[in-house]
Amino acid sequence: MTSLVGLIGYPLGHTISPAFQQAAFDHYSLPAEYHAWPTHPDLLEAKVAALRGAEYLGANVTVPHKERAAGLVDRIGPQSEAIGAINTIVREDRILVGHNTDTYGFMQSLKVSGGFEPEGKRVLLIGAGGAARAAVFALADESIASLTIANRTLERAVSLANLVRDAIPEVSTVRLVDREIEETAARADLIVNSTSVGMRGGDAGTASPLPTRLIPPSALVFDMVYNAAVTPLLKAADTAGAQRLGGLPMLVYQGAGAFELWTGRDAPVEVMFKAAREALERLDHAS
Ligand code: ATR
Repeated sequence: MTSLVGLIGYPLGHTISPAFQQAAFDHYSLPAEYHAWPTHPDLLEAKVAALRGAEYLGANVTVPHKERAAGLVDRIGPQSEAIGAINTIVREDRILVGHNTDTYGFMQSLKVSGGFEPEGKRVLLIGAGGAARAAVFALADESIASLTIANRTLERAVSLANLVRDAIPEVSTVRLVDREIEETAARADLIVNSTSVGMRGGDAGTASPLPTRLIPPSALVFDMVYNAAVTPLLKAADTAGAQRLGGLPMLVYQGAGAFELWTGRDAPVEVMFKAAREALERLDHAS
């Protein structure tokens, strides 16, 4: 019997997850099909419940369902509980277990693809939404020296910062305004953009969330936006002479973490990267 697994989100647009997940299943000749399952919020509960059927391995969950899905599974791990969101569901017999591999995806891409060792480092994180949450929880486990969260809406930055004050020696928040961010940016070893600012086709425009003059050449600039090879922020990082890391590795590594949970096999990461890049190129040609 062919097993089913897929991505639950709404709307899904041009997702590349089916391409690189299917490549991983095919690599091991596993009889499984990975589908895109656009799921309207009204239908989420029924969709998750259906995953208890014997043909399902589980699912990935993306925006806007990550928080609600955490309340619809039978069990979630302690870290997902703290994050309050899941991106992976695994069916274990008739029990659905929720996991969050976004934190793994964030840290693995930072360390392996970015060559960055977080211990003792000063981090500036732009944004305080769902993507920022994964970054903050991943960083809280890594003995970083300090974390500053910069957000357009300060209150959201403060709420997020409050979740990790015990785990990180120095935690602060600023509004996403050049003159408020200037000092922190100058001392940052790592600058992460978790907002949709600069996303191609997004409604947040084509601007960089941080101007070139505020990026120190010694920093690594990590833009979680993955649907453009060079985002405005990464362009600014280049001009500033800083190192840069795009969002594709995080997407692939969160997927690799999910694949390992569904199958118990090592994710064929190189195969997944190749399929992800090819899928992105196809999208480029189509647009
Ligand atoms: P996600 O799950 O992708 O992180 P989200 O939870 O809606 O999505 O969070 C979006 C983030 O991008 C927030 O930090 C948001 O800032 P606010 O909290 O002030 O809304 C940020 N963001 C979105 N559009 C933005 C814009 N045009 N300028 C600055 N920040 C923006």
